[in-house]
Amino acid sequence: MKFFIDTANIDQIKEAQDLGILDGVTTNPSLMAKEGITGEENIKNHYIKICEIVDGDVSAEVISTDFEGIVKEGEALAELHDQIVVKVPMIKEGIKAIKYFSEKGIRTNCTLVFSVGQALLAAKAGATYVSPFIGRLDDISTDGLNLIEEIRLVYDNYMFETQILAASIRHTMHIIDCAKIGADVMTGPLSSIEGLLKHPLTDSGLEKFLADYNKNN
Ligand code: E4P
Repeated sequence: MKFFIDTANIDQIKEAQDLGILDGVTTNPSLMAKEGITGEENIKNHYIKICEIVDGDVSAEVISTDFEGIVKEGEALAELHDQIVVKVPMIKEGIKAIKYFSEKGIRTNCTLVFSVGQALLAAKAGATYVSPFIGRLDDISTDGLNLIEEIRLVYDNYMFETQILAASIRHTMHIIDCAKIGADVMTGPLSSIEGLLKHPLTDSGLEKFLADYNKNN
């Protein structure tokens, strides 16, 4: 399972990278705005900066919603760095653009996916990644993990190569549940990844080992 961090915050990206388990980064316009990154040039430079920190894929989202606009923006983003994956919204024009990009060898992440039907279309168009937003489904009392399970079944039925990128991860249990289901990738905040480290028996066990050592040395 690949681990992506879902942020545009440079300190958090560096911290996850230093842990040695990071496979990539996902961003979106809201996450860029949260870090105060505005203006086309600053946004592009920020993507390059992120690519230089991590070894893996960096999703950069287009703002356009028409085919020509998505293609123009996506090609410019892909030119920035080899690690860029063009993030395209799940809309009709987006599907057309994903098909175009896949024929050109430009990798894509189909974002804002909330149903199996949408995931099926993204795979048929040749998306590299599909991003079902599980946290946002949970927010409206719909089982986000169930969607991951259903997409896994459909993709396996037809051996689609599109990778399931479980997005909108909110906490550590989401990561564990996605791993059990067989999501190819998860993207979440640093806190959800660090939560995997924690167990009270690890803490008390280590405390006892160190105390015993210190008593006798
Ligand atoms: C993923 O690519 C999205 O940017 C992200 O996971 C959305 O998460 P949110 O629902 O917590 O905003």
